[in-house]
Amino acid sequence: MRGASVVGLGYVGLTMAACLADRGIKTTAVDIDKEKLDMLRRGIVPFYEPHLQEMLAKGLAVKAMVVTDNLEEATRNSDVMFVTVGTPSNPDGSINLDQVKAASTGIGSTLKKTPGYHLVVIRSTVTPGTTEHLVKPLLESTSGKSCGSDFGLCVNPEFLAEGLAVHGTMNPDRIIIGECDKDAGDALGSFYASFHGQRMPSLLRTTPMNSELLKYANNAFLATKVSFINSLASLCEQIPGADVEVVAKGIGLDPRIGPLFLRAGLGWGGSCFPKDLRALVEFARAKGEGLPVIRSAYDVNEFQPLRAVRMAEHLIGSLRGKRVAVLGVSFKPETDDTREASGLVVIHGLLREGAEVTVYDPKAMQNARAVLGEKVRYARSALESIEGADCCIVATEWEEFRKLTAEDYAKRMRIPSVVDGRRIYDPNLFKSKVRFAAIGLA
Ligand code: UDX
Repeated sequence: MRGASVVGLGYVGLTMAACLADRGIKTTAVDIDKEKLDMLRRGIVPFYEPHLQEMLAKGLAVKAMVVTDNLEEATRNSDVMFVTVGTPSNPDGSINLDQVKAASTGIGSTLKKTPGYHLVVIRSTVTPGTTEHLVKPLLESTSGKSCGSDFGLCVNPEFLAEGLAVHGTMNPDRIIIGECDKDAGDALGSFYASFHGQRMPSLLRTTPMNSELLKYANNAFLATKVSFINSLASLCEQIPGADVEVVAKGIGLDPRIGPLFLRAGLGWGGSCFPKDLRALVEFARAKGEGLPVIRSAYDVNEFQPLRAVRMAEHLIGSLRGKRVAVLGVSFKPETDDTREASGLVVIHGLLREGAEVTVYDPKAMQNARAVLGEKVRYARSALESIEGADCCIVATEWEEFRKLTAEDYAKRMRIPSVVDGRRIYDPNLFKSKVRFAAIGLA
């Protein structure tokens, strides 16, 4: 085997490249962003993802990994090419396939100049039909070669969660191969069989269409599960004696439901759920299907973060001129990613009410500054952020915030009052010391 290449170095692509190199596969990692490439060549990962920095440094040091903007070099040095470019939202919510088109055209023209069989694997999340009706014709027209005989094409969705991307790449719970033809599926199946060895996970081989759709179904189901429990949380808030945590625990014991993705909170964000649900709904709309369940899950999520603002008002009255600390602007712990983070929606809601906001996050301060600029104050620690504050809203469940005690809040705040948007505190310990409200608790 010549090696592998990965085209598009976001968190999925870069993690994949680093993991392939770690397993001794000669890997060419390609991106068009020169600034990003400069950083990567110096061994710096442009975002926070546990373990990735060390793996990148090691891969580069032992020359298992090369970082380049040269697609031709990538094609020449690899027989399997993973496409992991971004698929952001258009303003109307539909999927933007510009990067997929550019990568397909680019790869196609290099295939034209490179002899031998190549396998192209679409790992970006793309709407059903994209691989067969867009990628394949582009590859064929630009390479002058034919899919199935001269090169192979598969869809191979990833299910990585940020913060766990390395572990997820090394130990996926399943591998889905959507093959345009059997030879391509066989080639990708053997690649993964040798990559995972004894720990080869379950494998599902199917059509590209099914693979593309099931990736969206996966995200939509998980997001719906969270919105479901968040709806129940809102009901619990209206019934004294009810607690959504206990309800979630009870239903999670039913094996048909399962315990995961039942943590009520301020809603889901990140780089995948919001964009993928929008793309799926928009895709379905064009086919005449409304997907009402998934649309409702999205709608519930739009309002969920603002419940924290209402809770703050309930605790301390009008927010005008009040000092509110917001703990957490990353969309979840163990990442510095603030894309579509609930904390940001909370902050904008507070600012609209006239509050003065102080923000703290263990990893996402730089990203927060880029979005919020001078609109808020930035603290250097959680304790500093609550000093003299009138209310504190916990928007992300960072470990560091769990360690704060009711006394920490009571001692430092002007009006000791806490809105626990992620259920990290024991209400019994807090209610006697501070004004306290929590998602899913009356
Ligand atoms: C998700 C999918 O898990 C992954 O398979 C897909 O490839 C990309 O999207 P990620 O965005 O990294 O991964 O985050 P995830 O851990 O799934 O959480 C998504 C959001 O849901 C976060 O904002 C999180 O806080 C929220 N969430 C999750 C809850 O509010 N409650 C839960 O019980 C679980």
